[in-house]
This record gives sequence, structure tokens and C-alpha cells, in this order.
Amino acid sequence: MASSVRPLARPWPPGMPVGALLFLLLLGPIPGVWCISELFFIKEPQDVTVTRKDPVILDCQAHGEVPIKVTWLKNGAKVSENKRIQVLSNGSLYISEVEGRRGEQSDEGFYQCLAMNKYGAILSQKAHLTLSRIEVGL
Ligand SMILES: *[C@@H]1O[C@H](CO)[C@@H](O)[C@H](O)[C@H]1NC(C)=O
Repeated sequence: MASSVRPLARPWPPGMPVGALLFLLLLGPIPGVWCISELFFIKEPQDVTVTRKDPVILDCQAHGEVPIKVTWLKNGAKVSENKRIQVLSNGSLYISEVEGRRGEQSDEGFYQCLAMNKYGAILSQKAHLTLSRIEVGL
């Protein structure tokens, strides 16, 4: 049907100088101009109750300009990753076998995720990980 391809969806407004288009194109990548820098949570961790040795995933998903780095805090201190506790590539925290009721090893506590990009950082709500008490008292 159409034999020519138009570079723009709408006709170029008559009288608008080409310089204005170039200016808009240049403006695009400038941080903050189009509010692309805003960082906010799409998913925040929720309270969970788990049984010892169960796996658990705490979700955290932030929206904003990439790269976004996600770190996790437990009771306000950075969670260190190990064989059992990992931050997944999508930002969620994965604990393969929840520990509890064994001295200081307990995973119980308040978890928060911290999302950062080059413009700033945001801290999620606190989610409490509770161990189910079924086994307690034996
Ligand atoms: C991240 O990936 C894990 C494992 O695939 C999944 O269970 C979890 O829901 C994901 N998190 C988000 C925020 O989508």
C-alpha cells in the first residue's frame, strides 16, 4: 500500500525547526528530565511463618533505572550470603533451610531489602520471619 516509510508517526509540525527535534533527542538521556530516575518497590517482602528446615523466599522487586543492586538486611544488619542464604538474581532472598531454635543461628527476625541505583537508595518495609513453634518444647 504505502510506498514510502515515514520516520515519524505524526507529520512534522510546520514551522518547527529541526533544531528543536535535535534538542529533544539530546534531552532524553539527561537524568531526571523524564522522571526515569525514580526508584520504587513493585514487591516488598511480607511476613512469613515457616517450619525449621523449610525453604523460604522473601520477595523484593524494585523499579527504576538499571543497574539496581539489591541487598538484604536482617534486624538492620547486612545479610551475608552463604550456602544456605542467597540473594537471587531477581532480588529475592532465598533461604534453603531455615534454621532456628539453635542458639544464635536462628533465621528469625525482621528482614528488609535495600535497593540502590546511581540516583539513590530505598529501603523496604520490614517483614518478620517467624519459625513455627510446633517442634518447640519436645
Ligand atoms: C524470583 O525467583 C524466584 C525463583 O525463581 C521466585 O520464587 C520468586 O518469586 C521471584 N521473585 C520475584 C519478585 O518475582
